Amino acid sequence: MSFKPLKIGKYTIKHPIVQGGMGLGISWDGLAGNVSLEGGLGVISSVGTGYYEDNRYSAKDINTRPLNSENFYSAKGLKAVIDNARKISGDNPLAVNILYASNDYERIARDACAAGIDIIITGAGLPTNMPEFTENYPDVALVPIVSSAKALKIICKRWTKRYNRLPDAIVVEGPKSGGHQGFTYEQCFQDEYQLENLIKPIKEEMKNWGDFPLIAAGGIWDHDDIVKMIELGADGVQMGTRFIGTHECDAHDSFKEVILASTEDTIKLLKSPVGYPARGIRTNLIELVEKREGPAVKCISNCVAPCHRGVEAKAVGYCIADRLSDAFLGKKESGLFFTGANGYKLNEIISVKELINKLINGENS
Ligand SMILES: Cc1cc2nc3c(=O)[nH]c(=O)nc-3n(C[C@H](O)[C@H](O)[C@H](O)COP(=O)(O)O)c2cc1C
Repeated sequence: MSFKPLKIGKYTIKHPIVQGGMGLGISWDGLAGNVSLEGGLGVISSVGTGYYEDNRYSAKDINTRPLNSENFYSAKGLKAVIDNARKISGDNPLAVNILYASNDYERIARDACAAGIDIIITGAGLPTNMPEFTENYPDVALVPIVSSAKALKIICKRWTKRYNRLPDAIVVEGPKSGGHQGFTYEQCFQDEYQLENLIKPIKEEMKNWGDFPLIAAGGIWDHDDIVKMIELGADGVQMGTRFIGTHECDAHDSFKEVILASTEDTIKLLKSPVGYPARGIRTNLIELVEKREGPAVKCISNCVAPCHRGVEAKAVGYCIADRLSDAFLGKKESGLFFTGANGYKLNEIISVKELINKLINGENS
């Protein structure tokens, strides 16, 4: 099957493949810039840009962690990532992923627009007021991530009523994805919430609103999986984990090693202070956390609203900002390593160009 380009707002993506935003520091300029260069849509993660090496401005505390949300989601760091990604991608469209649960969501969305981003993708919450923050940038395409027809209905209803606007595309994410899930732990295992069963009811709901593309995500691994999603009615796919297996992926080599060494049995749904289950690798850290022997929770960076300034982190036993940043820094003992359910399938590191070629033309091409 040959794939059609994906239209998101005024932008045309040559191949209907979106590289999912991955925090912390997994999809920055290197990965996103190269995916866009090769004709997919590169998505920059806005999480923890205070850790970006080109960002020398954010205030850090004695542990060298960005202090409070204004430094954790550093405007200068985000601009540096976007500028450097653009140097790679040229004029091809480029997106940013912003978690709705982020403290400072509004400010980060405005920062991304000011830095010249083309598309904003938002999940981890229902972004009912997303258009408000991009009002001065009408060309910026808005893409919410949804996991149910109900969520889509709420967004379309509010957006049409308040802003006379519809999403420019939606990402439908099923429970095999990496990181945070839009489901309860139990739902993640039930048939009706699997990606292949979410697409039809969501497409039905879309008919009530208008014509915008549906991008399927969660557990998509190869060319055949993409064909399957398109046959089910998707216009494109979003893939995260497989892109970790590229030279250009911004993750630390140790991060890639942890994913390469993972097995089906070590990939689990973990509790998270964000309030949703999160898929990652059950490392030594998780065992320590369960025994209440993990690193101290200090809430230096004040990252996500649902954590209530460390209250949930203390209840769950770890700080998500500190653990994800340790994974970014390559600290295997104290880092938290997110992956999708298929992470154990990763067995090589190749270039973004080779990967896109395999996805478009089949594994043996
Ligand atoms: C390491 C990692 C970090 C992620 N971080 C984010 C994030 O910050 N925001 C987000 O919306 N999704 C995040 N995701 C989800 C991906 O963007 C993507 O939608 C998902 O992983 C797709 O499933 P797949 O990994 O099976 O392809 C993350 C996934 C991984 C593996």
